[in-house]
Amino acid sequence: MTDHRSPDARFRTSLLEENDGPATNPTENSTMGEIIAERFSRRAFLKGSLAVSAIAATVSPLALVAADDARAAEGSAFSFDELEAGIDDKHHVAPGYDADVLLRWGDPLFADSPEFDPVRQSADAQARQFGYNNDYVGYIGIDGSADHGLLVVNHEYTNPHLMFPGIVKIVEKDGKKAAELAPLSKEQVDVEMAAHGGTIVEIRKEGGKWQVVRDGKLNRRITSNTEMALSGPVAGHGRAKTNADPSGTKVIGTFNNCAGGVTPWGTYVMAEENIHGYFSGELPAGHKEAANYKRLGIPEGAYEWGAHYDRFDLAKEPNEPNRFGWIVEVDVNDPTSTPRKRTAMGRFKHEGAESIVAKDGRVVFYLGDDERFEYVYKFVTAGRFDPDDRAANMNLLDDGTLHVAKFAADGTVEWLPIVFGQGPLTAENGFAGQADVLIETRRAADLLGATKMDRPEDIQPNRVNGKVYVMLTNNSKRKADQVDAANPRADNAFGHIIEISEDGGDFAGTRGKWEVLLKCGDPAVADVGATFSTATTANGWFGMPDSCAVDSAGRLWVATDGQGPKATGRTDGLWAVDTEGPARATSKLFFRVPIGAEMCGPLFAPDDQTAFVAVQHPGDGGEDWEAFGRPSYYEDPSTRWPDFKPDMPVRPAVVAITRQGGGKIAI
Ligand code: FEO
Ligand code: CA
Ligand code: CA
Repeated sequence: MTDHRSPDARFRTSLLEENDGPATNPTENSTMGEIIAERFSRRAFLKGSLAVSAIAATVSPLALVAADDARAAEGSAFSFDELEAGIDDKHHVAPGYDADVLLRWGDPLFADSPEFDPVRQSADAQARQFGYNNDYVGYIGIDGSADHGLLVVNHEYTNPHLMFPGIVKIVEKDGKKAAELAPLSKEQVDVEMAAHGGTIVEIRKEGGKWQVVRDGKLNRRITSNTEMALSGPVAGHGRAKTNADPSGTKVIGTFNNCAGGVTPWGTYVMAEENIHGYFSGELPAGHKEAANYKRLGIPEGAYEWGAHYDRFDLAKEPNEPNRFGWIVEVDVNDPTSTPRKRTAMGRFKHEGAESIVAKDGRVVFYLGDDERFEYVYKFVTAGRFDPDDRAANMNLLDDGTLHVAKFAADGTVEWLPIVFGQGPLTAENGFAGQADVLIETRRAADLLGATKMDRPEDIQPNRVNGKVYVMLTNNSKRKADQVDAANPRADNAFGHIIEISEDGGDFAGTRGKWEVLLKCGDPAVADVGATFSTATTANGWFGMPDSCAVDSAGRLWVATDGQGPKATGRTDGLWAVDTEGPARATSKLFFRVPIGAEMCGPLFAPDDQTAFVAVQHPGDGGEDWEAFGRPSYYEDPSTRWPDFKPDMPVRPAVVAITRQGGGKIAI
């Protein structure tokens, strides 16, 4: 989810990560990052070598020092010809590859699904079509195939201004143009609820191109209305009981499913991230959940669901938010199975749930909490993975130990167990048991002294080299006196990546070493302090690392969220990053998204012959409507988008990238 702000929270391009942090609107309060960004903005109009020489002419002596500090490097170990960075309304891939739209918002998923019709949307239709704002993408091979499998895709959130024709009005305010959003009807809210959640869909590669199998027996949509079970320590707890569910075990739906994962036993896990936006209303005076909700920014009220459904109104169902903010596990082999919210894995703004089997067979999930100054977690199952008995693994996620990371200046990281009765997690601090600790995971981590990070997003273990990569998107609110070794830049506008090596290669252990792999941003601008290798070209650097993938050769690919004309003068995209040898910290641009979009996914097919990427909210303009040329692409596209074609990826889409003539994506 992008990082810029809109004056109307319901535009929601921006708001959700920042509610609870010490965030203020950067458009009113310039930071060093924005001053630097302004320089990028001007450069965005320059092209090619002209841009390079223009940058060179403005490089300060400090930049030369920064260049000396950058890691000495050989060229990238990735052999593809690098794509040129830039900004326009199309997606682009490196020469020699095809980037084909596989699934767009509204595409039919079942044999009897209606075709997408933007002017006659309905919740019934949407619940049988591909959802909105695709984020996590996973692949589960059928019989181990790399050419035939299930694609699992999270649908994180909705942008009503990009979904519903005619609800945006451009008005004059104080002599400036501004966008106003009309209230949504109940029917539109229902469409939104059906557009959230996830998709499970069979896909098959034929003649080198991927196709959707519309009558796939396992095809399924999960939405904000799918019945789920609360399982693990919080199941049945009083704080999870509502008027509609006195059992405290039966939850309706999931939403804001950001990154996620596929478990070693072939289930799909969905992370519930920015849950606070869906709740509105006021808690009854003096309600015991007030501090709990404040810590998560609940209620934020960006969505209008509470106007139509009591469960989103805190005055009517004060415990409902305790039933969200979890990791949800889905058995994809049975489309009638009940998804389970695995409460042992903690409750926060979950981003990602990538896993690896430790030496002793326990399974370790790395979990980010994406907000400024929040924490990095990992969950270690109590039981062991049995590769020969899928059924035996199906409840591994109900029992285990959640840990939070404390990064020390000496380069060590300690994983602190979040266990009731240990250390400060006792009745004295208001916890009556493990359920309380898990419902208030953030407060438990506060008490343990975890390290406040610069927006932890996707965290990826690398089974080839044993390292773990932590994407830290940015944090422009970190002050100079809040800098620490693991978050080394004040006003961190461009983010960084940390690399962890668990001691003894034991992912289930409680100690490791860490170092900064990359400080992001333009290495040619000294003030930024970026540390890409000197072999990284003017196209190869990036800012705002968000999602990532590791291919089967163990190489890191980083997707970004939050670049654009103002931030970096380039769109978001997918970069290949060397992590080993003399080329370490060299980055190379492979794919970039249309203007207004962020880059999600990414995922490599098991044979490395396809890279799946997810393009979220293409064409979104945030507060800067005129720059993006449209309030909504349904409004006479011929005048605003002269080259508009139905196949142009202006709807959120999953794109399949393959090498022309076949073969692995990168050699
Ligand atoms: Fe949904 Fe933190 O990105
Ligand atoms: Ca993300
Ligand atoms: Ca990932």
